[in-house]
Amino acid sequence: MNAMTPTPPVPAPLNNMGAPTARYESHAKVTGQAIYAADMGPANPAFGFLVTSGIALGKIVRIDDSAARAVPGLIDIFTYRNAPALKPVKHFAQGGRVSDSVVPLAGPEISYAGEIVALVVAETFETAREAAHRLRIDYAPQHAAAGFGSQGTDEKPFAAVSKEHKDKTAGDFEGAFAAAPVKLDARYSTPTQHHNPIELFSTTAVWNGDMLTLFEPSQFVWGLKAGVAEQLGIDAEKVHVINPFVGGAFGSKGIMTQRTALVAAAARLLRRPVKLVVMRNQGFTTATYRAETRHHIRLGAKPDGQLTAYAHEGWEVTSRADDYAVAGTENSVEIYNAPNVWTKVNIVKADRNTPGFMRSPPEVPYMYALESAIDEMAQELNIDPVEFRRINDTQVSPINGAPYTSRSMMKCFDQASAAFGWHKRQAKPSTTRDGDWLIGYGCATAVYPTNMMPATARIRLTADGHAVVQIAAHDVGTGAYTAMQNIASEHLGLPVGNIRVEMGDSALPPGPVAGGSMTTASAGSAVLAACTQIAARFGNTMPAPAELRDAFARLGTQSVEEYAEYSPPAAGAAGIKALYNGKMGGGGEQQKGGDNKKPLMMAFGANFVEVRVHSRTREIRVPRMTGAFAGGRIVNPRTARSQYLGGMIWGMASALLEATEMDEKRARYVNDNIAEYLLAVNADIPHVDIILVPETDTKVNPMGVKGIGELANVGMPAAIANAVYNATGTRIRDLPITIDKLI
Ligand code: MOS
Repeated sequence: MNAMTPTPPVPAPLNNMGAPTARYESHAKVTGQAIYAADMGPANPAFGFLVTSGIALGKIVRIDDSAARAVPGLIDIFTYRNAPALKPVKHFAQGGRVSDSVVPLAGPEISYAGEIVALVVAETFETAREAAHRLRIDYAPQHAAAGFGSQGTDEKPFAAVSKEHKDKTAGDFEGAFAAAPVKLDARYSTPTQHHNPIELFSTTAVWNGDMLTLFEPSQFVWGLKAGVAEQLGIDAEKVHVINPFVGGAFGSKGIMTQRTALVAAAARLLRRPVKLVVMRNQGFTTATYRAETRHHIRLGAKPDGQLTAYAHEGWEVTSRADDYAVAGTENSVEIYNAPNVWTKVNIVKADRNTPGFMRSPPEVPYMYALESAIDEMAQELNIDPVEFRRINDTQVSPINGAPYTSRSMMKCFDQASAAFGWHKRQAKPSTTRDGDWLIGYGCATAVYPTNMMPATARIRLTADGHAVVQIAAHDVGTGAYTAMQNIASEHLGLPVGNIRVEMGDSALPPGPVAGGSMTTASAGSAVLAACTQIAARFGNTMPAPAELRDAFARLGTQSVEEYAEYSPPAAGAAGIKALYNGKMGGGGEQQKGGDNKKPLMMAFGANFVEVRVHSRTREIRVPRMTGAFAGGRIVNPRTARSQYLGGMIWGMASALLEATEMDEKRARYVNDNIAEYLLAVNADIPHVDIILVPETDTKVNPMGVKGIGELANVGMPAAIANAVYNATGTRIRDLPITIDKLI
């Protein structure tokens, strides 16, 4: 299909990149030695099985458990009538600790489809499931609002309900837009999406006296520990969360759900360890999801391509209970040099479970809308889309003039477009063909803010030249174990094979949530600080490995151990305190790009894609993609490339496949399984080129590292929509792009 050689899977390190070492845990994973949470804990627990609500709104009027209780091996059935009371805990956006504040089994009222209405516990998994299916619950349903356009939703400006969000504005948008010689006014939408990690949600709760041990896949064990303790009304010191490996999360395992304390309370009551695995369909409602969004964008420009005005109004669905929004305008307004800006984010409350973080939560939907609009405007102006972005490139905030710490957006565009062969693109849609296939090229900007959270780490170095790095951070499949190993290896001057890394256990020093692409920057900065302290024990320079024994002999010891803390400047000492208290933000707020006049910290990239649309069937294929990304220091180019690869493919999935379909009448998800919820696999894209663009940033954090985990899937949905337009002349403004929309 094309003759280019793909970029190699093990990229040679360029300037400001570390060694491309192999994955730390790869051997353990491929040999089955890596044990996941649901397979941990005692050999003979009692098994839980959830029953979830058959209606979205209303009341339970009758529970008949006689058939269920007759199942041999049943231990107990908990419903609102006999459930252990759990303390209500606030949603994390309101300073609390849960991802959905509706407490299950608190009463007969139902707030959303798929709410937990019973926990069945039995001697075996099969028995619990059998009894769950025999439990009869009758409801009195009410009309439920499913989402946008449903009767009974409640729309509010997000700024009115959020303490943190402010709608950014600059200059005079209305005046500038009215005066603009070239205008674009367009609306876009994105669907509900669910994370669907391969590893299911699970909780295993084991009590030893008043000590609770939890095995649960989590992106934040210290947060889970504190949250469960609060809900159970016990001391956080009595809770231990163990979870060394996570089989995918994408945001869904970052914040505590309501199931954990329920299982722990049941185990306490029954005086038995209880293991619960949440079924795939139940995971759609017991955890969070990406809310569907709508966008109204207006752009004004001069004929020479200079943007003069940008307005972006967004709408996001949330639940009745919680005012959650991702508010992607906070960063989208910083990308292009439009001096007159108006934004507004609205929430639309419906009878749904509460949405949450998913794969670049704000940037994926908001940048899809903006980058589609940018392509439409470039077409209108008859300017090449890459050149249009160059004209509007900036090194400072268009909102308040604050500088970027570094920004390599156009470098990424230039390297990606050259490798992709962008010069072959025909600006007029529907002009390039290969037999029955219409060929289209598209591109878009990828961007992700550099988030950071406080972190702590401990390192023990022994005279034999081996070190153990301990931090309760998490590897959610991203390569975090490897990155921590790389950092310690580099700064202790030891081979990677001599470094053991321990993560995912709340007995370790607290680390950041494995979200917001902040692990390497945050946990890495704590590991770096611990390495620096270790070096200080040897007069600030690490002895060479061969000299270590003598150096230790001079110290009169066989091992040294250092504990270190890192807190972003905005969080300070309060941030460390908050972290020990299981809070995500440093002192209530995480430092990120875009607030006040602080420098903007963001990683940039450029996504290019070729699509082929069949001229008669409108089948869409993506034969190749090229991405170039700059994210400050790259600790390991091999794992970084894998992150970009995965991100680009997720972006493709988001454009063409992923959507949770709603039954509008019953406010219920229809395709709550991975047979009908479509995901991309590597085989869907034969050829992915990834270019690591060197970038040095000395200001973001001591590591000089920006977040890259979520970067590459941003922009890809728009790049594909833009390529589909270039192929067909049809502009699809509602994701996903499916055959029916092209006919
Ligand atoms: Mo990710 S959505 O920041 O866990």
